[in-house]
Amino acid sequence: MKGYTRNAAVMRSHIDDYRGDNHPHIIEINKLKVADKRGTITPIKETPHYQYVLGNKQPYLDFLREDHPNEYNESISSFEYLINSELDYLDSSHKKYNGYAGEDSFIIHDDYIIRDGVHRATLLTQLGITHAPVLRVAPINHKTRIPANIESYINQHKDTFPEWYSCFTLGPISIPARTYPTFTNRIESLEDDTMGYKKWELIIKPNLPDLTGKTVCDIGANIGIFSIEMGRLGAKRVDGFDRGPDVVQPNNHNLGSQSVPQQAYFVKNLCEKHYGKKFPHVNFYETDLMTHDFTKERYDVFFSCCVLYHLGPQRMEEIIRDVSKHTPEIFLQANNGHGEELGSDSSITRAEELIQKYGYSTKIVDHGPPEYDHPIVYGVKNIG
Ligand SMILES: C[S@@+](CC[C@H](N)C(=O)[O-])C[C@H]1O[C@@H](n2cnc3c(N)ncnc32)[C@H](O)[C@@H]1O
Repeated sequence: MKGYTRNAAVMRSHIDDYRGDNHPHIIEINKLKVADKRGTITPIKETPHYQYVLGNKQPYLDFLREDHPNEYNESISSFEYLINSELDYLDSSHKKYNGYAGEDSFIIHDDYIIRDGVHRATLLTQLGITHAPVLRVAPINHKTRIPANIESYINQHKDTFPEWYSCFTLGPISIPARTYPTFTNRIESLEDDTMGYKKWELIIKPNLPDLTGKTVCDIGANIGIFSIEMGRLGAKRVDGFDRGPDVVQPNNHNLGSQSVPQQAYFVKNLCEKHYGKKFPHVNFYETDLMTHDFTKERYDVFFSCCVLYHLGPQRMEEIIRDVSKHTPEIFLQANNGHGEELGSDSSITRAEELIQKYGYSTKIVDHGPPEYDHPIVYGVKNIG
């Protein structure tokens, strides 16, 4: 490999040139991981590509034969070209090679993924270069990503979401709740019947109306399991709404900043894998419920568990008022246990009063077992 020493210095100076300007991203090359087509995540130094750069060519040739048989010769010659290019493709004057470490790449750095550019990354790693500018990076989109290796997918991504408001358990998979302020795993949450699937089984599922062929909006869908389950129960379409990273919950400014709908897609991927079935009719959207326009969307069922009172009494009423104009069914879950914090706003009495005020007749109020403080109310209205 000719020219490495000289070009390592050249490379460093290019990187220094890019620091501080508007170049999109400087990434830590030495922390990169590579995702292959099966979804397996491999640290850069354990890739067959890195072995190749070190001179041990066989693992890379085997990898090509298996993963890219049609591009076998072409891949070898372009990699050889890179290796022998004296790294001049890294010189910004050589635009035809696009310049940087991760040409046209996705990079994992916490939650970024590298799909191509791994060849360049291994070259830089071998040079001991730890940081480099990249041309294009994109976060993993859980909406489209289909995990092949479920265990590595879970381990890789569950921690990219600092908050797990609700625990998640399904078959062998379990992710405990962890919330503000410590965000530490609360193993006991897996037994808590006020959240997750335990809550679903105890009080939500038994009280739901027939959802067959209906459209449902799930407001404050969080990790999405109720939306997914309603989709499984026959709803024609379920749209789950929750906060994106920029939305601050009015009574909890310190809540983790994250895309909750992306987290719901992550969970949906796990459920699809578990059930061996796709749920294309269940989708999640970022919104700010404080400003979301409820007059526009029309659904058969408005579903919201333990959410509305967090938005304050005025906004809570505004939402019910707007929804009542065109939504025949409302399903709400209250929380009698909030005590002084949210006062009577979160009580089942208030939820029932409110839906009645806007024309719903209450069909079901279920308080659950003795001492249970998350009752539900279901009401219907004749929409002309
Ligand atoms: C108490 S959790 C309930 C979650 C879920 N429905 C359940 O019963 O398990 C409240 C949910 O509302 C969401 N939320 C609160 N304020 C919001 C806002 N302004 N915009 C969007 N979502 C919000 C939170 O992110 C959270 O997922």
